[in-house]
Amino acid sequence: MQDIPDTLCYLNGEYGSLRDAKVSVLDRGFIFGDGIYEVVPAYAGKLFRFDEHMARLNRSLGKLRIANPHSSEEWLERCRKLIAALTARSGAADQLVYIQITRGVAVRDHVMPADVRPTVFMMCSPMKPPTAEQRHHGVACMTARDFRWERGDIKSISLLGNVLARQMSADHNATETIMFRNGFLTEAAASNVWVVHEGALLGPPKSEHVLEGIRYELIRELCEDIGIAYNLRPIAESDVSSADELLLSSATKEVLPVTSLDGQPVGHGALRGKPGPIYARLFQAYQRAKAAQAL
Ligand SMILES: Cc1ncc(COP(=O)(O)O)c(C=O)c1O
Repeated sequence: MQDIPDTLCYLNGEYGSLRDAKVSVLDRGFIFGDGIYEVVPAYAGKLFRFDEHMARLNRSLGKLRIANPHSSEEWLERCRKLIAALTARSGAADQLVYIQITRGVAVRDHVMPADVRPTVFMMCSPMKPPTAEQRHHGVACMTARDFRWERGDIKSISLLGNVLARQMSADHNATETIMFRNGFLTEAAASNVWVVHEGALLGPPKSEHVLEGIRYELIRELCEDIGIAYNLRPIAESDVSSADELLLSSATKEVLPVTSLDGQPVGHGALRGKPGPIYARLFQAYQRAKAAQAL
């Protein structure tokens, strides 16, 4: 068994060690995967894009018909307490706060029980950002058919499809599995995917097949600030294979260049197989946004 760190976590109103935290086997998160989660980055102890993460948490809960058990201020207070505890313990400057809410504990029945109290669990871990090597050379990815369910817009804890997809690339020593549904790009197992064509950044439109990453709006703002055209439109497999640049985005990856896809170098000419200029500009802009806006 893996060694579980003895860090502070929050479970249903109590703070305690992650090692000792326990939930009922009848928790609907355990039985059905009936719950949602959020992952909020914190830089130097300050939460990044917290309001946006709270808004998505609310949207996910709404789709599951679970009432939000806490106000934004209460979530903030709990996040801050966990961040401070991990900072004191490990000195980790940059962290990820994980928040999970399940429908709660009930006798097993698919129908949503009426009188049940949601289970709230939170923990904090040191952020493991991409390495300098990955930033410098870019990462390898592979492609696959998107065989997941049709509600990728919900940040559901039912992640089996994403786990299977991610393992395909892990088995090939690649960083992500980039998926296509009916010939069109959706997302990667744990990241959104961006394509650069003739200087413009293209992303798949928001739909029930794609999780609306918090970086969707952030990247739109960054593009506007630094003068890069940003366009959401259906992206065919051929658009991806002929891309000038390919990028991943997520809370941990921020923006990350993909320089090899299914063993073939991404891009053209002198930049073939190398991180490109749009990545470089977005990465710089992202670092400025981190420094400027944190709660
Ligand atoms: C399936 C999936 N898509 C996209 C993302 C990116 O979302 P965000 O930018 O909010 O981290 C994630 C993040 O983990 C994800 O799991």
